[in-house]
Amino acid sequence: MAKKLIVANWKMNGSIAKIEHDLSVYKTNALTNSPNVVFALPMPYLYQTIDLGAGFGVACQDISQFCGFGAYTGEISAAMLLEFNVKYTLVGHSERRAAIGEDNSLLAKKLENLISVGITPILCIGEPRSIRDSGKYQGFLIDQLSLLTSLNVEVLELVIAYEPIWAIGTGKTPTIEEITEIVNLIHSFVQKTSAHAKILVLYGGSVTGKNIADILHIPEIAGVLVGGASLKVDEFTAICTEA
Ligand code: PGA
Repeated sequence: MAKKLIVANWKMNGSIAKIEHDLSVYKTNALTNSPNVVFALPMPYLYQTIDLGAGFGVACQDISQFCGFGAYTGEISAAMLLEFNVKYTLVGHSERRAAIGEDNSLLAKKLENLISVGITPILCIGEPRSIRDSGKYQGFLIDQLSLLTSLNVEVLELVIAYEPIWAIGTGKTPTIEEITEIVNLIHSFVQKTSAHAKILVLYGGSVTGKNIADILHIPEIAGVLVGGASLKVDEFTAICTEA
């Protein structure tokens, strides 16, 4: 069985000292020093991380909508990330959708830019509590997924992370049945709309050392996206041990 993909999303956390300490620990453990373990760190620490020469993967948390190089002050392009051996990049995390107003048309450009240089996007989707309670969450998630049908790419290969907003950082997680329903929904949507696409589906939202085993047992789940728990070395190591 293929190893599960474990992606650590450090968000706006970390320091030179923390990166040096934590990543050195992960480098010396065969379970974490593995390409199926991926760290999405803040951009300034990218070079320091690559310089460690470790076996785990490196990701970014966002990417510019603009491609290549040029007069776009403050932006960082997919072509630049490629030079740092970045394998994955998060796109459309709910914190960015909410705080920065990222919408499907902007996210489509980011996906196209990443795919065009060979970096695998991790597209995050997820509904707020009010939509879950209204029972209309399937339509809400399909709307977020619909941008995939508008992409101008030759080959569609990506990771899709289902992260219900009400589960992020709250300690509340959906039931295994609820996660399974959405994993199946994502697979069937992609199968119907782009049969040749290759996708992996992750779950994210309050993943811990305690619930990881049950989540990874869900059929068709390819791994997890871990926020808060990825900042604690012991807990994140326990999560990777289950993969
Ligand atoms: P959490 O965050 O694990 O702290 O809930 C997950 C995420 O936002 O990706």
